[in-house]
Amino acid sequence: MLCRTASVKSMEIQTSDLGPGGKAARVRSMFAEIAPRYDLLNHALSLNIDKRWRRFVIKKVADRLRRPDATALDLCCGTAELSLELGALAPTMGVDFCHPMLELGMKKVGRANLPIDLVEGDALNVPFADSMFDVVTVAFGLRNLDGAEAGLREIHRLLKPDGRGAVLEFSRPKIPVFRDLFHFYFTRLLPRIGNAVSGSSFAYQYLPESVQAFPDQEGLASLMRAVGFSEVRYYNLFGGVACLHLGNK
Ligand SMILES: C[S@@+](CC[C@H](N)C(=O)[O-])C[C@H]1O[C@@H](n2cnc3c(N)ncnc32)[C@H](O)[C@@H]1O
Repeated sequence: MLCRTASVKSMEIQTSDLGPGGKAARVRSMFAEIAPRYDLLNHALSLNIDKRWRRFVIKKVADRLRRPDATALDLCCGTAELSLELGALAPTMGVDFCHPMLELGMKKVGRANLPIDLVEGDALNVPFADSMFDVVTVAFGLRNLDGAEAGLREIHRLLKPDGRGAVLEFSRPKIPVFRDLFHFYFTRLLPRIGNAVSGSSFAYQYLPESVQAFPDQEGLASLMRAVGFSEVRYYNLFGGVACLHLGNK
């Protein structure tokens, strides 16, 4: 049984690449810089649609969370937005390697009084045994890892047999005119607003670039199948701006 802790637990961080120029180091310091404004910007720049996306994740994993003694793991949990939704249904563990994000998450978890435990650690090397969780989620985190395939392998390893992995991530809008309008917003307007409000010179520049470099809907589905997930399916959200991929172990 997992239980709520009063403070963020520090675990040994074994990032795949923490060198000065490595992706993990850059990502971690970027989120440390924008942490105080992260939730505000998320909700404002998406007009609160991100909250609906996370609730959609819960809807699609709820059957697994209602199993007796079910537990969930939320990788790259950040400020615990999705962990809080999961924790309302089952004891939940959140993992993130960015301490400032976790500290903000812990305050929210404390107020919610739910069975949620947040730990500091690397999503590519999670310090838990194989086959421990009924549900493993990652929301807007897989794209940030130093290797999406390695992240998916870790999710698969941590799931119980017949457990479910859920990946919520930005993706590629499919409807032509909407796609062009969104592309303008995402690559021109959002970086200016996001960088100005967050105080970061690059975080919201990195966002569209990282989405562009990430596999599209079919590409991610293929990657999930390749690492061993079965019954892989996906749901485009808001015309494909985001996408929820599901797969069973
Ligand atoms: C865009 S935020 C998403 C946070 C949260 N899941 C949400 O839905 O708002 C991405 C998070 O991934 C975390 N992250 C990136 N790479 C990581 C890694 N290798 N291990 C653990 N956390 C990582 C960052 O620290 C950041 O908090």
